[in-house]
Amino acid sequence: MKIRVCSYAELEAEGKRAVVADRKAVVIVRARDGRVYALRDVCPHKGPCLSAGMIDRGCAGERVGVYVYEPEVEVLRCPWHSWEFDIRTGRSLFAPERVKVKTYPVTVEDGDIYVEVQ
Ligand code: FES
Repeated sequence: MKIRVCSYAELEAEGKRAVVADRKAVVIVRARDGRVYALRDVCPHKGPCLSAGMIDRGCAGERVGVYVYEPEVEVLRCPWHSWEFDIRTGRSLFAPERVKVKTYPVTVEDGDIYVEVQ
């Protein structure tokens, strides 16, 4: 089911926006390149809204204390314990195959954003 959730202009002003689509909590995120992504607005750890977190650049490292910025990766950081999720895939940076957030297909049509939820 494809549902209009907000206008692109509304999203552009805020960078992210919490919406409800077919009774599902969804966070809409605008990347630096202008693309739009939709993720379930619930952290898989303890459940707070990811929309209350910050958007930041992704960072990786081979061991504790080593940080390498990955410019193509943007993350949504949970406001409670700072788990980071790639906004494109919903995968966590620390365990991408095991810990992830559901993502939804997004389209932008005539200045409006639509999310497909099943
Ligand atoms: S509740 Fe989100 S990282 Fe812990």
